[in-house]
Amino acid sequence: MKKICVLPGDGIGPEVVECSAAVLRAASDDLEFVSADIGHAAFEKTGSYLADETIRTMASCDSSLFGAATSSDRPDYVSPVLTFRKALDLYANVRPIKTIVPSSKREPMDVVIVRENTEGMYTQNEVYDDDGVTTHRRVTKKASTRIVEFAIDYARANGRRKVCCVHKANVLRASDALFLSIFRELMGRRGASLVADECLVDSAAMLLVTNPTRFDVIVTLNLYGDILSDVAAGVAGGLGFAPSGNIGSKHSVFEPAHGSAPDIAGKGIANPTAAILAGAMMLRHLGKDDEAKLVEQAVADTYAAGHLTTDLGGRHGSKSFTEHVVERVQRARRSA
Ligand code: NAI
Ligand code: MG
Repeated sequence: MKKICVLPGDGIGPEVVECSAAVLRAASDDLEFVSADIGHAAFEKTGSYLADETIRTMASCDSSLFGAATSSDRPDYVSPVLTFRKALDLYANVRPIKTIVPSSKREPMDVVIVRENTEGMYTQNEVYDDDGVTTHRRVTKKASTRIVEFAIDYARANGRRKVCCVHKANVLRASDALFLSIFRELMGRRGASLVADECLVDSAAMLLVTNPTRFDVIVTLNLYGDILSDVAAGVAGGLGFAPSGNIGSKHSVFEPAHGSAPDIAGKGIANPTAAILAGAMMLRHLGKDDEAKLVEQAVADTYAAGHLTTDLGGRHGSKSFTEHVVERVQRARRSA
């Protein structure tokens, strides 16, 4: 039995996580769910956006499934997402983005963005002075090495061919150059069976739109990975399609890449695909490859049968779309 910590969070978080959990239940009898608070709901109960108790529950489970948390501009606000990434040392953020619903307006996309998840622009170390603010952006050999190693190992394990380092070493001639040199060195050894590619981040943003098949696996620094994964999601049909895994050597948290979408929260219309695919990533991470494939196939088949959520111009809400996915998962299991 694998134990999953479910963290619904804010906005559409609870709506899409419920859909994902329903699909996971249909796909496997070997999962046990416990839930924990995060975000504003947690703050109201405990005075903390991420109580120590939640971290302990997450750490004691085999993996976690997280919805989204709404940010706050309160001066004492600390992002619960950045907190759990640090507390559980989830150093790799993996975002596979693939076109499921083809469109004549967009190039087909199938990329995996592997983003450094612990440092770079996200050190949250900003210092005021009389005239402004200095943001400390940190790039270390240790974090760069482990993320590049992760990307290489991921590419090899998942039958990928090419790894592209996205950087801005022409401007950030020390920090990004360090990241790039580590990439070159590791690709020469550990990644020798793969094609090594390099691209400046601004150029990568354009190429993801105009020529996405140029990319296979991208490995990049924290902020670039954040921005590029939304660009890629846009090309693949919207934020509703991008799942995300935060992975460390001991722990893992899977989530849709989108936020809490307050503009559509409570309406029952959020596209649950990213959350469901995040659940599939979790299954694969837990060694349940067959179940993961079952879920991915059921999502693809649901779309292929013309069931679309409202963000794609269809008529399905989160729940009725999910019912179609669940039904397909159940049918596939029965006939297996
Ligand atoms: P967002 O991703 O929540 O929404 C951006 C746009 O995409 C909105 O128009 C929204 O309606 C739409 N959208 C997002 N997910 C969708 C889905 N599943 N189905 C259909 N449409 C969807 O980003 P936004 O608006 O910038 O942020 C809202 C809040 O979420 C903020 O407080 C932000 O800080 C937080 N956030 C939290 C994240 C997390 O918890 N991991 C990640 C990103 C943002
Ligand atoms: Mg983001």
